[in-house]
Amino acid sequence: MKDKLIEQIVKLKKDRNAVILAHNYQLPEVQEIADATGDSLELARKATQIDCDVIVFCGVSFMGETAHILSPKKTVLLPEPSAGCPLADMVDLEDLHTMKEEHPDSITICYVNSSAEVKAESDICCTSANAVKVVQSLNGKPIIFVPCRHLGGYVKRVTGKDLILARGFCPTHHRISTNQIEALKEKMPDAVVMVHPECKTDVIEAADHVCSTSQMFRVVEQTTAKRFIVGTELGMLYPLKKKFPDREFFPPSDDCVCPNMKKTTLEKVLRSLETMEHRVELDSDVRRRALRSLERMLEHA
Ligand code: 13P
Repeated sequence: MKDKLIEQIVKLKKDRNAVILAHNYQLPEVQEIADATGDSLELARKATQIDCDVIVFCGVSFMGETAHILSPKKTVLLPEPSAGCPLADMVDLEDLHTMKEEHPDSITICYVNSSAEVKAESDICCTSANAVKVVQSLNGKPIIFVPCRHLGGYVKRVTGKDLILARGFCPTHHRISTNQIEALKEKMPDAVVMVHPECKTDVIEAADHVCSTSQMFRVVEQTTAKRFIVGTELGMLYPLKKKFPDREFFPPSDDCVCPNMKKTTLEKVLRSLETMEHRVELDSDVRRRALRSLERMLEHA
């Protein structure tokens, strides 16, 4: 059954001159059929570089929107259009306008986990992989940072810049606690702790490394340590274990699962290629203005 599905996907992908991009949190079988996997920054860059007519984006909707904004000539399909991001939904245009009114002489940075409208209204976008670099590149004015208060707080501490933070957070990363990490550290004092910057502040402070999902591969590569505590969505364990079979990876919490990231299945990928649905479409003015902040983001890739 699964083999048949994969066979159909591979054939249709060729017929449609399509590529499949999958985020590191996707189901293992979806990561396996992807032409490229990665973190948000890598996938955004891939969307602009890959030569194809169609991108099937296996991730959440803001990632598909980002690919469409950066590559408008390609058709970008979301196999599951309801796969949203609660963090991205925590700041809308009205909230951003209010923050801008309160701080009129400021620059706005939006995390890539945001709507196209919020990107269009921001000066520059960033991902967890380059947020520190983006903030360091800006001089003088106060910086409004939306929507993630934890990533924003982390960047503020690292750079010492004047950041005005929104209140958003990722409900999935919020499930990770320092108690869970300490309990694992007690059993494995040698384990290296790496966490995503969407984790709560005390969790970030307890970590050896704070990194985007793909930067976690680099941390493992650069150390001889054998055991790692991985503070992010559970899907990340699959590519880590696959790439480093001689190392061990432990999640602080077994319920750190993003339900939206798990909505995309092989069946839906096939249906998407068959029906050419669901296409990402955006208002052309929003797309043009969001492109500016995404292009500035890619300068710091
Ligand atoms: P990365 O860019 O680190 O892969 O993170 C994406 C994300 O949505 C985390 O919740």
